[in-house]
Amino acid sequence: MSNELAQRMATLGALLRETPVLPLKYEGINLYAKLEGHNPIGSVKDRPAYWLLKSALERGQIDSGSTIVESSSGNFANALASYCRLLGLSFVPVIDPNITPGYESSLRRLCERVVKVEQRDDTGGFLKTRLAKVKELVDSTPGAYWTNQYGNPDALEAHYRLTGEEIARAFTTLDYVFLGVSTGGTISGVSHRLKEKFPSVRIIAVDAEGSVIFGGTPRKRHIPGIGASIVPDLVKQARIDDVVRVPESETAQACQELLRRHGLFVGGSSGSAYAAVKRYLPKMRSLTPPNVLFLCADGGAAYLETLYNPQWTSRLE
Ligand SMILES: Cc1ncc(COP(=O)(O)O)c(C=O)c1O
Repeated sequence: MSNELAQRMATLGALLRETPVLPLKYEGINLYAKLEGHNPIGSVKDRPAYWLLKSALERGQIDSGSTIVESSSGNFANALASYCRLLGLSFVPVIDPNITPGYESSLRRLCERVVKVEQRDDTGGFLKTRLAKVKELVDSTPGAYWTNQYGNPDALEAHYRLTGEEIARAFTTLDYVFLGVSTGGTISGVSHRLKEKFPSVRIIAVDAEGSVIFGGTPRKRHIPGIGASIVPDLVKQARIDDVVRVPESETAQACQELLRRHGLFVGGSSGSAYAAVKRYLPKMRSLTPPNVLFLCADGGAAYLETLYNPQWTSRLE
């Protein structure tokens, strides 16, 4: 293992400090928001980006000459791009036309090469086309390493050791945890860690209507970071007690409410998780108010033109 690369990795690991857990006022429950937008690169995806690279380095799967390849049009690509740049590694993100203009331009600045697929797959989405392109790139690029965020067990471990561990340390009792799901990395790692410390905690998966992760008919979705058009392997390993599916229009309203009522400017999956808490209230009210946590995976700035733009949200179902 290159010493210099290992040292840089250790320096980056030390930057991943605990993100805040903010108590919010809510009648009948003790509600807390964990603010993952406070990670160094700005989202919950800092954790797997760092951990996947660290683990690959420790196993000798990458070195300073490696090229990291990943299919992502959002926070994971953004986090990997920054971590790879900080570590001096090459990174090729495979993106699709659904990427926000802000993310696309920052990736094009951060990476020497960005591959954009244009063809829809048989589900009408782009995921399968992106994954086929990843395979092609890995096969044709010397020293390529695919981080495989949809199936890599290192992603589970990242959230077990980092996100889940922090939540476990922050509470003495915890009754409900609401987590948005896309690749399943967060919910698989966090659920395993929390059920060890709080055996009766209920883990509620939050999905978008139109996603197929927990069954249902696929439909075009517009809010990134939540839902998927496949059932990721990592989701199958999560310890989930219940699922709440949130329509996109409700996610947008919940984002507005988080901002106006609680002063929190957060992204789409955070709004979905808050909307799910509200839907679940009748099942949670008890004589002793339960401790309820929802994860805010990123901040709101990347969504100004979409979720915080009334013209855009008026078209959501
Ligand atoms: C904003 C946001 N929230 C939630 C998630 C879901 O996390 P996971 O992929 O670990 O299921 C993601 C994943 O991309 C995300 O970008």
